[in-house]
Amino acid sequence: MIDETLAAVLKARATSGDASVLRSPEFRSLFDALKTLPADQKAAYGQAVNQLRQELEATLAAKTDEADALPPIDVTAPMDINAQAPQLLPSENGSIHPLMAERDKILDIFYRMGFNASESREIDDDFHMFGALNFPEDHPARDDYDTFMTEQLDAKGSRLIAPAHTSTMQNRLLQKYKPNLDKDEPIAVVVPDRVFRNEDLDARHEHTFYQLEGIYVDKGVHAGMLIATLKTFLQEYYGKELDIMTQPFYFPFTEPSFEFALSCPFCDKVGCSICSQTGWIELLGCGMIHPNVLRAAGIDPETYTGFAWGCGIERLVMMKYGIEDIRHFHSARLDFLRQFA
Ligand code: DAH
Repeated sequence: MIDETLAAVLKARATSGDASVLRSPEFRSLFDALKTLPADQKAAYGQAVNQLRQELEATLAAKTDEADALPPIDVTAPMDINAQAPQLLPSENGSIHPLMAERDKILDIFYRMGFNASESREIDDDFHMFGALNFPEDHPARDDYDTFMTEQLDAKGSRLIAPAHTSTMQNRLLQKYKPNLDKDEPIAVVVPDRVFRNEDLDARHEHTFYQLEGIYVDKGVHAGMLIATLKTFLQEYYGKELDIMTQPFYFPFTEPSFEFALSCPFCDKVGCSICSQTGWIELLGCGMIHPNVLRAAGIDPETYTGFAWGCGIERLVMMKYGIEDIRHFHSARLDFLRQFA
């Protein structure tokens, strides 16, 4: 009947997934042979060819299903153990994130200057974020901070807030360290922690970043001490002599308030892309703590005065290393991180 060798070759092609086998001249030749057969053999031969065709079709269909099927999932393993294992970084290759390493260096400098450090918090209330800092109710200055509000309310019915500045800790820290004053010791504390702002993001703005808040209170504290403290810190951090410049500014929680600029530590006032060719960097806000802020913490402003400042930590680090985009810090990009490892 059908040539056995030819049938075997056709089946092998179907098994290997060759879909063209049904259109092949070899397969067609079987039909041509039909015409030349004596009449009494035609029916049986035709049936055999048809059976072979069905067999080839079934084999091909099974092949396609196999190719389309998803690989089986091994539910006992956290991943398909048959798949190529993802490249995991060996943990001994890890390193401290550059921002955290710099934060530690900054803290070391302030520890040596006699400051304590404290954490901030990630949810706070209207009183600490604004009220205790001498922001009048409904004052437009509250809108200067692109604050993320939650839908939950605090005990007084104001929305809870993701703090937009570390100044949100001032009232608590003034109260906590107030007993120092009775022992003739100053209140000296820095807060290096995260803050959140509903910002348009670009190379200089992130929605989540770090600030370094500082407060210092004692008898006879004046603005010269503020400037000397910040200048000493910055020269220590950048490891070089720097020029500084202050300009009057407005914050509700300081009076007088200043904007504090320093000579660009990256180009030494020559002008570069870090300082927008000006030679100067506007770095931070600072001032003498407003009497109302001291009063809100139960400290008598007739006896004690103090200074405070707030500064973006990423900014400090970007200027040290010439990092052009603040978004690198949270990007988890290894090519960025490895430069500091
Ligand atoms: N909280 C201010 C801000 O985020 C920065 C600041 C300015 C903090 C002056 C202070 C200060 O403590 O005295 O823009």
